[in-house]
Order: sequence, then C-alpha cells, then structure tokens
Amino acid sequence: MAKVLYSVTMSVDGFIAGPGGDMQWMRPYLGPNPQIEELVPRIGSLLVGRRSHDGDDPHKGEQGEGEAFGGGWDGPIFVVTHRPPAGAEPGITYVDDFASALAMAKEAAGDKYVNVIGANIAKQCIEAGELDEVLLCYAPVMLGDGTRLFDHPGGRTVRLERLSLTENPLASNLWFAVSA
Ligand SMILES: NC(=O)c1ccc[n+]([C@@H]2O[C@H](COP(=O)([O-])OP(=O)(O)OC[C@H]3O[C@@H](n4cnc5c(N)ncnc54)[C@H](OP(=O)(O)O)[C@@H]3O)[C@@H](O)[C@H]2O)c1
Repeated sequence: MAKVLYSVTMSVDGFIAGPGGDMQWMRPYLGPNPQIEELVPRIGSLLVGRRSHDGDDPHKGEQGEGEAFGGGWDGPIFVVTHRPPAGAEPGITYVDDFASALAMAKEAAGDKYVNVIGANIAKQCIEAGELDEVLLCYAPVMLGDGTRLFDHPGGRTVRLERLSLTENPLASNLWFAVSA
C-alpha cells in the first residue's frame, strides 16, 4: 500500500517558495543530498498542485529544467487543477477533484511513495487524514515572505514523530511520521 509523503525544501523561517512563487532561492541547496537520491527510486507517483506544476523551476536554464527532481525521476504525475487543459501530455493526468487524484496517485504508486508537491495539496492530504510522512530539507536561508510549508489561518496542530535527522553540507533533512 502506498504511503503519502510531503517532501520539500524549506527555509529556516518556514517558506517553501519565495515572494511571487520565486524558486531561484533554492539553487544553492539542490544537492548533493544522498538521502533524496535514495528516496527518488522509492517514489511511485507524484501528486502535484497546479501552482507547483506551472511555477518557477529552481533548475531553470540548466539540464533537467521542467522535469521532476531535475530529471532524476520518471513516472506517473497527477496534477490537481480546476482547469484541466484540452490536450494530453505524456505521463501527466490532470484531475479536477482532490480525492480522485489522490486515489489515482496511490493506485499508480503501488507499494512506493506518493510524493506530494505543493503546500496546498499537502494541506488537503492532512485535512483528509491521508498524509503519512513529511521530509523537510532544511536550507540555511531566510526568505521573509512567500508560500508557507503549512498555512492554516486560525491554526491547526499536526503532531509529528521524528524518524530521522540527516546532516548534509547543504541542507539538513528531518524526516517525520504524521501522528494525528
Ligand atoms: N521548496 C520546495 O521544495 C517546493 C516544492 C514544490 C513546490 N514548491 C513551490 O510551492 C508553491 C506551490 O504551492 P501552493 O501551495 O501555492 O500551490 P499548489 O499546492 O502547488 O497548487 C494549488 C493549486 O492547485 C489547484 N487545486 C488545489 N486543490 C484543488 C482541488 N481540490 N480541485 C481542483 N484544483 C485544485 C488550484 O489551482 P487551479 O485552480 O489554478 O487549478 C490551486 O490553486 C510554488 O511556488 C512551488 O514552486 C516548492
């Protein structure tokens, strides 16, 4: 049975994207990150929010631009959107309903991970009680503004159990299981 993982690079002040969706801040922290390299083949599908799908690419202008994990991963991608495009794109399924997209991504992942991309989609996984794990690559930078890892006006407590802490020269990884 697939597990649902929100893996993401985050600034020290809790942002996953900078102002206006800027992702160039991430360039110095793209790797090497051996734990992420080990994770990539364990990912069976991607569940992606439309803003992430359409958004800025930290690999812009480099090999791997426009590809998942900078070209390090290949497999079925499910993009959640209210605006599915008319034309088909190989490997990408656009779905206008979150629950259906998650079910399709889990089915496609088999016994591997569904990797969630996008804070809004991760929040919906949490609200549905479907997020199993969170992997934070904690980058030594502060952004001051942007898209938060988890934004819930009024607050919402999500308890996590730490599974591992891995130190890397560029970013430290914290891997959690979602408790409740
Ligand atoms: N730091 C990192 O490692 C990392 C990784 C990935 C992404 N990011 C960044 O994170 C930012 C995106 O996160 P986000 O939270 O703003 O957005 P997101 O989760 O990527 O996408 C949200 C969008 O998905 C669509 N959507 C969401 N729920 C839906 C539903 N139930 N039914 C139909 N459509 C639905 C809507 O778009 P429409 O209404 O337009 O269809 C919504 O605006 C981007 O800037 C991206 O670059 C950072």
